Amino acid sequence: MKVYLDNGATTMTDPQVSDTMAKYFTEVYGNASSLHSFGKSAKEALDISRRIIADSFNADSREIIFTSGGTESDNLAIKGVARALKDKGNHIITSKIEHPAVLNSCKSLEKEGFRITYLDVDENAFIDLNQLKESITAETILVTLMHANNEVGTIQPIRRIGQICKDNNIIFHTDAVQSYTKVDIDTKKIPVDLISISSHKIHGPKGVGALYIKKGTPLTKLSDGGSHEFDVRAGTENISGIVGFAKSVDLSTPEHIKLQNRLKDQLIDGIQRSIPDTVLNGPRDNRLCSNINISFRYIEGESLLMHLDMKEIAVSTGSACSSKKLEPSHVLLAMGIRPEHAHGSIRFTISRFTTKEEIDYTIDTLKPIVEKLRAISPLK
Ligand SMILES: Cc1ncc(COP(=O)(O)O)c(C=O)c1O
Repeated sequence: MKVYLDNGATTMTDPQVSDTMAKYFTEVYGNASSLHSFGKSAKEALDISRRIIADSFNADSREIIFTSGGTESDNLAIKGVARALKDKGNHIITSKIEHPAVLNSCKSLEKEGFRITYLDVDENAFIDLNQLKESITAETILVTLMHANNEVGTIQPIRRIGQICKDNNIIFHTDAVQSYTKVDIDTKKIPVDLISISSHKIHGPKGVGALYIKKGTPLTKLSDGGSHEFDVRAGTENISGIVGFAKSVDLSTPEHIKLQNRLKDQLIDGIQRSIPDTVLNGPRDNRLCSNINISFRYIEGESLLMHLDMKEIAVSTGSACSSKKLEPSHVLLAMGIRPEHAHGSIRFTISRFTTKEEIDYTIDTLKPIVEKLRAISPLK
């Protein structure tokens, strides 16, 4: 049995998505800016897709900008707002557990003279709202805090974060790449100015994402070129990718969330029942339906990953984007987890295509591997 439990890194493109995309390579391949019928058909597909993403946020179509993915959306939101508001202030607030797309955007801005506050998190990776309030100064122009964490699945209270920002007249950006279609964000109810999302995390194609930009949000564009995407993001639109992204949003249902929550509980309970000295990293509640992160004491996560891979079960250690580095995860360390326990952590991320049988197989396969690795472990 081949089991893919690394859906936090990327997901299988739903065959219904790739089928929908196909004609946009060979039939409707016009440039959406062209005036002829080829161009008009592409523009129509672009408009319909934009409407689908906008509806998912209860937003206006003109508030959605298509990008090349979550990384670009984060860069555009953070650098775009910082540069647009640099005369107003130079202080940005983020957290220690953000994705590198956010952390490294902030690091770049430090070189441009911005001052960044990196909020702490508690043992379950929640930020402290009081620390957020206390960090705000007259110079603060932007708060960027993720909706759900990619490593441990913690869902931050973005309604309350947004309200604090609104009360202080500060722009709020959230990276919702992991939570999109799993936890609703109604932009009429939650005070949020910018939201980053990505297609390949929700069974859409890679290389496409979007940024929700609330009407009136000041933003300087990152690259110069044509006036595409309401003059915010230059470059010919990736119509096939955008259509695929919209299709993947259309295919997401609340039933998928229920299914994943059941499988998540099955995996957590199954591992904790059958394997001693295992600790769930991150909260049990307010956790993404797709994320399970467990520390297996006395063993290295990488050895466990390799042994599971030999049994055709794909998991990850740390975050996928940085899993080639053998340093303990910055998220787990920020949560106060000891480095040796962080080293023994494995992230299992499920999807709507994951089955109960796959979870049973994973639990049954894990047990003897963990026993074998512990028997030879110098850490025990
Ligand atoms: C929370 C978060 N933000 C941003 C990204 C980057 O998204 P993309 O791969 O679409 O550039 C990821 C991808 O792992 C992520 O998990």
